[in-house]
Amino acid sequence: MGAVGEKAVAPAALAGIDEEVRVTFRYPVRFTRGLLDPASTLLRDVMDAHGRARLLAVIDEGVVQAHPTIATDLQAYCAAHSDAVELTAPPLVVPGGEVIKNQPGPVDEIRAAIDVHGVDRHSYLLVIGGGAVLDAVGYAAATAHRGVRLIRVPTTVLAQGDSGVGVKNGINAFGKKNFVGSFAPPHAVLNDFDLLPTLSDRDWRSGISEAVKVAALKDPVFFDWIERNAVELRERSLEAMAWMIHRSAELHLDHIATSGDPFELGSSRPLDFGHWAAHKLEQLSHHELRHGEAAAIGIALDSTYSYLTGILNHADWRRVVELFETVGLPIWDPEMAVPGSGGRPAVLDGLEDFREHLGGRLTVMLLERIGSGVEVHELDEAVILEASDLLRRRKEGGEQEGWELTRALAH
Ligand SMILES: NC(=O)c1ccc[n+]([C@@H]2O[C@H](COP(=O)([O-])OP(=O)(O)OC[C@H]3O[C@@H](n4cnc5c(N)ncnc54)[C@H](O)[C@@H]3O)[C@@H](O)[C@H]2O)c1
Ligand SMILES: [Zn+2]
Repeated sequence: MGAVGEKAVAPAALAGIDEEVRVTFRYPVRFTRGLLDPASTLLRDVMDAHGRARLLAVIDEGVVQAHPTIATDLQAYCAAHSDAVELTAPPLVVPGGEVIKNQPGPVDEIRAAIDVHGVDRHSYLLVIGGGAVLDAVGYAAATAHRGVRLIRVPTTVLAQGDSGVGVKNGINAFGKKNFVGSFAPPHAVLNDFDLLPTLSDRDWRSGISEAVKVAALKDPVFFDWIERNAVELRERSLEAMAWMIHRSAELHLDHIATSGDPFELGSSRPLDFGHWAAHKLEQLSHHELRHGEAAAIGIALDSTYSYLTGILNHADWRRVVELFETVGLPIWDPEMAVPGSGGRPAVLDGLEDFREHLGGRLTVMLLERIGSGVEVHELDEAVILEASDLLRRRKEGGEQEGWELTRALAH
């Protein structure tokens, strides 16, 4: 075929085209109480539709059990604001916890509901739930119609302070965490602290590990604050927890907005400090370990590794481990020692999974002092096992043992 009105040009001679496509995302993250009280305008105000917004809601089954009126509260809210919003159907209830991420079914059902109820790219999908439900529903929202607007209402400490405010979603596949998913910023995130008191003690504490993580890497003043408030946090002070969640969300968002790599195209993933082991431990324990618990173990492990290799001083290492102990999070679990293929602990395979998921060169964040991380490109398996054993002895041996055993190593 020839160029229009001209003589024929050989395809190889056609000029290449280079275009830069710039996209900016902006979304509000708000903190409130009584989100579904008809007197609150927060939810209606984030829907900037011309005319009435169409809304489909999906709620975590665990949240429905703990807050039995939540679906009717939402219906009443939409009725009170019927000039601005139309609920297209009664809220869908989906399984809570990791079970929703371990199968493709629920994501398909949500996509089907998006289709049946005519949710288009100008409608809204509202999801109320823990991190697992947000991840799965977020994936459905990101892929139906190539992306429908998602309003997240996170209901756990972890989801309010970390996962629910970020840009990642996905489900597990082929025995690997978050193997299928996408990067998709939400339309808005509404954190309602009144949802938190019904959490189990384990889920209440779990999310503290992500705050410790981001504080240890980025904000020594926040780390001090968590230390000073550790007992209040463990004893379920909602006021202390609200403050912790706010600062954790702020630091996570600041990283996403300013790191220059919101969609993690590079090899560096600082916010995954301690997570190479954590993701593997979750899988090995068949998700008996909560994500936040596994993260605490992984962070304790990599902090101990940092100490044993001379990167982190003894006092700072001790602060990290003692903080997890004070807030009631695990620093070690028998899963750490379970043998895999070849007899070596299976958790070590987590490093290869991590490298593969990231692509390219293995990059692992270690701690150089409270408030500052340092990246390395290889880990010594013998030292990882030594670190694990040290934490095991600390956990099993009671108060002093872990520290006494390492006195000789102190520097
Ligand atoms: N997308 C990300 O960036 C990101 C970041 C960190 C973690 N995550 C993911 O988050 C998941 C963990 O999320 P999680 O820690 O929020 O736990 P979860 O979603 O597994 O929820 C734990 C349990 O609490 C219940 N629940 C939720 N809210 C409740 C409430 N208010 N009252 C009573 N029960 C309630 C749930 O039904 C579930 O049974 C993991 O799959 C992890 O991989 C994702
Ligand atoms: Zn995490």
